[in-house]
Order: sequence, then C-alpha cells, then structure tokens
Amino acid sequence: MSKKLHAQNIQKATLAVRETSRLVNPRFRQKYHFMAPAGWLNDPNGLIQFGGQYHLFYQHNPYGSSWGPMHWGHAVSRDLVHWEHLPVALAPSEDYESGHGGCFSGSAVEKDGRLTLLYTGASTVGGEERQVQCLAQSTDGVVFEKYAGNPVLKRSGSRQSDFRDPKVWRHGNFWYMVIASQEQESGAALLYRSADLLHWRFISQLAGGSPQQGRMWECPDFFELGGTGVLLFSPVGFDNRKATYLTGRFDYDTGAFSAETLGETDWGFDFYAAQSFPDTQGRRIVIGWANGWDWMPWWNGFGPTQQDRWCGHMSLPREVTMCADGRLAFHPVSELQTLRTDAWRTESVTLHDSEPLALHAGDGIHFELLADFDLTASTSTQIRLLMRCSETEQTVLTCDLRQGELIFDRSASSPHDAGIKRCPLESAQQKKLRLHVFADTCSVEVFTDSGRTVLSSNLYPAAESTGIFLCADGGDAQLSCVETWGLA
Ligand code: FRU
Repeated sequence: MSKKLHAQNIQKATLAVRETSRLVNPRFRQKYHFMAPAGWLNDPNGLIQFGGQYHLFYQHNPYGSSWGPMHWGHAVSRDLVHWEHLPVALAPSEDYESGHGGCFSGSAVEKDGRLTLLYTGASTVGGEERQVQCLAQSTDGVVFEKYAGNPVLKRSGSRQSDFRDPKVWRHGNFWYMVIASQEQESGAALLYRSADLLHWRFISQLAGGSPQQGRMWECPDFFELGGTGVLLFSPVGFDNRKATYLTGRFDYDTGAFSAETLGETDWGFDFYAAQSFPDTQGRRIVIGWANGWDWMPWWNGFGPTQQDRWCGHMSLPREVTMCADGRLAFHPVSELQTLRTDAWRTESVTLHDSEPLALHAGDGIHFELLADFDLTASTSTQIRLLMRCSETEQTVLTCDLRQGELIFDRSASSPHDAGIKRCPLESAQQKKLRLHVFADTCSVEVFTDSGRTVLSSNLYPAAESTGIFLCADGGDAQLSCVETWGLA
C-alpha cells in the first residue's frame, strides 16, 4: 500500500486531463450536461452531499477517450447544474487495482465527518479477473487515502470475478451494501451489513433473475421511497433493457425483498448505470451515464466524440417519486429552470393533418420544450415532434396514439446515428399528453406520462440542423400550449 504512489498517480492523471482538455474538439461538447474536461467517462459514482456541496464522482480514463484504466473523476456543485471540476479522486495504485482494471464503480457515505468511498478494486492476476471491495477516505472531500486494510470485502470461494459496484447506505445502527454479482450465469444483487464499514456480513440475495434476464446486474442501487423498496440495476444482456428497476416490500430484519413491479428507469439508447442519493431537500435524485455497453445491430458505438478527445456525459439529474401502482416517476430537477432564456410560447393551436407547425426553441440545438395536447379534441392517429432538422437530417419523436407507443427515430439524425426505440405511451389512452424535452448539443431527453416514461438518446447532427416542428397525422391534433426556452 503506497500512499506516495497514489498521490503521484493522481497528479499524473489530473495533469493529463488538463493537458488534453486544451486539445478537445468542441464541436459536440454539451452545454449543460456534465462531462469530464477530457478523456473517457462512464458510470456516475459516489453521489453525495458533503460539506454543503453535491459531489459527483465518475468512472474515468484520463489517458484516452476509450475505456481504460479506471480512475474516479470528481466534481462539485451547489445546484446540480453548474459543476466545478476537482482533481482526480482515485487512481489505481495497488495490486488489487492493477492490470486491466482499476478503481471500478462504487458509492459514498459520510462517516465520522469523513467523505468515505466504497469501490471495487479490479485487477487481472494471471489472466484471471479479481474484484474486491475497497474503502478510501477524505477529511477535506478532495484528497482521498485508501484504507491500509483493503480489501474490506472479498467474494468467498475461488471465483473472484463479477462481484462489483458496492452501493452503501445507513439504516438504524448499521451500514448496508448492495452489490452486483453473477450467480449461476444470472445477474443478482446481494445484500451485506456492517457496523463499521470494514467488516461485512452477507445477509441475503436481495434479488436475482434468470440467465435470460441478464448475466450480470451491474450497478445495483437500493433505497426506500414512501416505505416501498426500490432496486435500480443495469442488466447485461436482458432483451433491450438497460436501465431497469424493481419495487416491492423490503424487510430489514430478514433482508427479504418481495419485488412486485418491474419497470424501466429510462427507455432510451443512452442511459445506464444509474445511481441515486438522498439530498437535504428530502429528494431522491438519480443520475445515469448517458451511454451504455451495447452490442445491438443498430449500435452506433460511443459516437464521433472519441475522435475529439472526449467521450461520455451524464444524464440530467432526475428526482424520483413513487406512484400509487408501484411504478416510479422521474422528473428533471427544478434547478434546471435557472438555465432558461429566450422564452417562447403559443396556445390553443389546431395542428392540421400533415401541416407541420414550425416552432422557435432557443437556437434549435440547446433547448427545453413543454408541449401539452388535448387528446379529447384531437382526431389524429399520430403526433410527431421533429427536431434538429435540415434538408438532410431529422430526429423524430412519434406519439402513436392508436398503438399507444412512443417511438424515437434517430436513423436520419446524422451519418453517425442509427436506430429506432419504441416503448409504451400510457397517455395515448388518456385525455392529455404532455411532452417535456431537453435537447443539448448531442443528446435528447424526453419525459412523458407524468415522468413514468423517460427516453434518453444521443445524436450527432450538424450544427446547421436546427429546425423544429410539430406535426399531426391521420387527423388534427389540439395543441393546448407549447412553451420553449433556450438553455444557456
Ligand atoms: C458499468 C460498469 C461497472 C463497472 C464499471 C467499470 O458500466 O461495467 O459494472 O464497475 O462499469 O468501468
């Protein structure tokens, strides 16, 4: 265990990011989504409020724009919207983080006034992967020291791989940890308990699936909302599902979780490894990596920004609420409203069949849009929102009112993009439809069905593709109100 080596590796990594950030090509840089200054970013880690600030750590390769030796990048914010970058928080320096691995995903808690990180030390030993759980602490929330007694938790038995992503929280007199594990070729979330964060006891298999439901449930995250247990997880190889949740009854005495509802945290192409945390306003906030490991035929890789010396951004922070039927709803945090400029609004418009209505929305690239339809006064079978349009490019969000489907089509978004995503649209059976859309340079996030349906995807249209239209097909649609804002 070398404190000095860790400090050196942190310095080297922080310097590398600073140097590379000068060379980053800005063409697709996001305006209001969190990104690393340069290099690769994946999962959000260690989300917490500490010392009066929100802390966001993230899986980070400071040395390239592809996945590589994993470090923890670090930033702080007072409003979840404006972030200040801090030095890299964790760099691989120990045997248990060597080889093709590093400091994998994990979480943060405050213990005895110290910001305490629990993460996975991932290493390759003799070609074999090992994953063990480790602890690091900081008094100032910036400089972290790894615990000399690491690892604090190892998988028992001979198999040391596929045991990662500890999410830790406090309940009563104990700390609890949920961790991703592969059990008989299937994904599972295991529950552990500890009195001191250093010694952990297995309590139960909180949840698990069949091999068809994913061979690994990465980044499990457990919390209670209004007395109901919630498990978020990211299954590897479960149909098209990437960001999934279970809700149901949880019993701390036995560690039993009777999951009753399965839902999607996000239906889009680009949302994965979501992590949540409670804030002092009593909210439960979720942030996801706005991308994912994907090997579907339409997959467009990690997009063109890898050539620009950066890759990866975070989703907008979302507040999670529990619905009466056990489903979750996700709402963009209200702080995002502080970004609004250039307000534009129009009311009571009838969209005539196949006659697109041109909208004004900021610069047509960075905008927020809120559109309300009165479906009782509409005869159309489809309502479409066309974004980032030019002669050659368009991105289409279709509300299929007959099939009850939301369809996101990025096959003509740009030469870099491909694929169509479909998911159920509950509002199609209701009186009103509301679309709430956030667009940034290379992403679109759609919230509808009162937050019960969310769809986030990346796209890389040309800077000239700024047209935006609403359109009704197969009849007229009654637009009660549309409001837009530029986002600065
Ligand atoms: C999820 C994940 C985690 C792992 C990390 C490594 O995206 O695969 O399971 O800890 O990324 O970067």
